Amino acid sequence: MKSLRLLGELKVPGDKSISHRALIFSVLTKGTSLISGLSPAEDCASTARCLRTLGLTIEQATNSKSSQDIQVLSPGFTDLQAPATTLFAGNSGTTIRLLAGLLAGQPFSVTLDGDPSLRSRPMSRLLEPLSSMGAEIEYLSQQGYAPFKVVGGVLHGITFHCPVPSAQMQTALLLAGLFAEGKTTVEVPGQVRDHTLRLFEYLGVPYHLNGNNTVTVTQLTHPLPSFNITIPGDLSSAAFFLVAASLLPQSKVLLQNVGVNPGRCLVLDILKKMGANLTLENVKEIAGEPVADIAISWAGQLVGTTIDGANIATGIDEIPILSLAGALCKGVFSVRGASELKIKESNRLTAMVSNLRLAGAKIREYPDGFEIEGSPKLPGGSPWLSFSDHRIAMTGLIANLVSDQPIDVDNKACINISYPLFQQHLETLLHG
Ligand code: S3P
Repeated sequence: MKSLRLLGELKVPGDKSISHRALIFSVLTKGTSLISGLSPAEDCASTARCLRTLGLTIEQATNSKSSQDIQVLSPGFTDLQAPATTLFAGNSGTTIRLLAGLLAGQPFSVTLDGDPSLRSRPMSRLLEPLSSMGAEIEYLSQQGYAPFKVVGGVLHGITFHCPVPSAQMQTALLLAGLFAEGKTTVEVPGQVRDHTLRLFEYLGVPYHLNGNNTVTVTQLTHPLPSFNITIPGDLSSAAFFLVAASLLPQSKVLLQNVGVNPGRCLVLDILKKMGANLTLENVKEIAGEPVADIAISWAGQLVGTTIDGANIATGIDEIPILSLAGALCKGVFSVRGASELKIKESNRLTAMVSNLRLAGAKIREYPDGFEIEGSPKLPGGSPWLSFSDHRIAMTGLIANLVSDQPIDVDNKACINISYPLFQQHLETLLHG
């Protein structure tokens, strides 16, 4: 390992999941809303582009010098513009799924599409319940995948049990439910990020939570008033620095103002379980979301642990970077019940297994996960294939810092999908 360490303080960019929702939920309102600290991710730009096609005006806030502070003028859901072109969601699963749900109850049709990665991700598990609510779905290329057309119409509420713990599916169906006659109830098998419910609360969207995982909504009859919101920092982006700081000796970092939604905190729990010296400071609430400064310092070699299916959704996006920590742990690090990883921006299971194996880690692949025999050293001296997946590419850049020999990441441009300033921010914290 080179003698590198991470030192200093950093404010990571705004949370991508909450940014998508703040933009999309502005359709439920009429008037001008202000969103401060929007995520600079290309994914969120895809959401904004689609919303402009529907008649919303989205621009930099007149009273701010930051391009991440924006104002959104919404005509209200009763006066959206029927899109003249395809809504192109780029690489973003959240954009395409949430918009499909939102628009299923509109009196027009819309075609949704994405890049090759998004075209290979399953859409039928959402589009089937939308069609049972009354939307007409037409696949334009391959059955079950984008591009597809949603012919909106009069929807009726359903009770739906999600087959997987997916916040995207839950949110898309609840959005459809806001435009459906009767009650729409969505049950999710396990804990997921609850940004949607917190934002519903903040905006005044009525909903009913039965138990932990079942939510009911009814039809929204009038547009809601516009809102002002500040987006917390993105824990999924912070995760790369958290893992790097717990692997590089003598590191000490403070990540300020990071969202710590309980449905996202697996990365914190696992790092603590592995022996990282991690604490939350200055915990507060912003727009209904828990936010904290996260202090982390190197505390010696991490120890192995097991991540299993029960709470995997609360850290699904952080499994790639956590598995790098696993490769350098004492003992065994295993991930099971994580088949959802196969249908993210890339097949993140095989991507991590093949990259870590090339870098010299002893890793065994399972249909739903992998097991790594940890080691104090990662040899490296290998290529790292990102599969054009931002989180795999960022994991590769951290792997390059902690390996004995260089690791060469093939595509860094894809990092813009979630964190355009990642390499710059890493440089500011990195000390030789
Ligand atoms: C997201 C939910 C997760 C996550 C994705 C963002 C969201 O997907 O992987 O990056 O914003 O709701 P699933 O809910 O489909 O697992």
